[in-house]
Amino acid sequence: MRQKIVAGNWKMNGSRAFANDFVSGLNRAVLSDDVEVVLCPPAPYLATVSSQIKGAKVGAQNVYFEVSGAYTGELSSQIIRDVGCEYVLVGHSERRALFSEDDELVAKKVKSAIGSGLKVVLCVGETLDERTSGRLEEIISTQVLVGTGLLEPQDFASLVVAYEPVWAIGTGQTASPQQAQEVHTLIRLLLSNVAGKKVAENISILYGGSVTADTAAEIFAQKDIDGGLVGGASLRLEEFLVICDHCANTIVGGR
Ligand code: PGA
Repeated sequence: MRQKIVAGNWKMNGSRAFANDFVSGLNRAVLSDDVEVVLCPPAPYLATVSSQIKGAKVGAQNVYFEVSGAYTGELSSQIIRDVGCEYVLVGHSERRALFSEDDELVAKKVKSAIGSGLKVVLCVGETLDERTSGRLEEIISTQVLVGTGLLEPQDFASLVVAYEPVWAIGTGQTASPQQAQEVHTLIRLLLSNVAGKKVAENISILYGGSVTADTAAEIFAQKDIDGGLVGGASLRLEEFLVICDHCANTIVGGR
């Protein structure tokens, strides 16, 4: 059965005090065993968040593919693991758009992070232009196939995919549940072509893009949506917990 996951991506937000308060609040909350909750704070807070957090996991927002060396400003998978992370986001659209990450670089990061024992959340998604010009399928296929292109069959057990339409990120414009399900179906089909049907059936595919307490339940009720990658709403503890509850209350594989 697929693991349900809600990951909170704080992006470049928060402070040490905010992280401490948030984690204390999260530790006091009752989290369902049915959902893996993952917090992705800015890198300097990873160590303290992982040392304090109970019942949830910690993820980094980015990683470099080399093991160590002269790569100023970068973090290796080993360093990320060393400070207590189990997850890492790779290929977020902001990394692709603002920091010129292409699919080949994403593929190297995915491979090396999984090789080091991390679980990778590979983020894919089309811009509005790409969608309206009929290139949705081509863009998603390329991002999924190239992004996972260096993986060996056994690596897929550590892979999570997040579908995040760029036009829905931070805009308040969530994809409709049908639009999201359509792309999740495509992603599962692509994964099935490269890794086999059985393996693909067990890969969690998350939706991200303006997920809120109001939109989460309907999105998570879709057959191929196994949770969410939450940005803005993950900075509001109460709302984040409601989103986690909505995920816990859905049945994997749809109703
Ligand atoms: P958002 O961000 O929830 O603020 O739209 C999602 C993401 O970028 O992961």
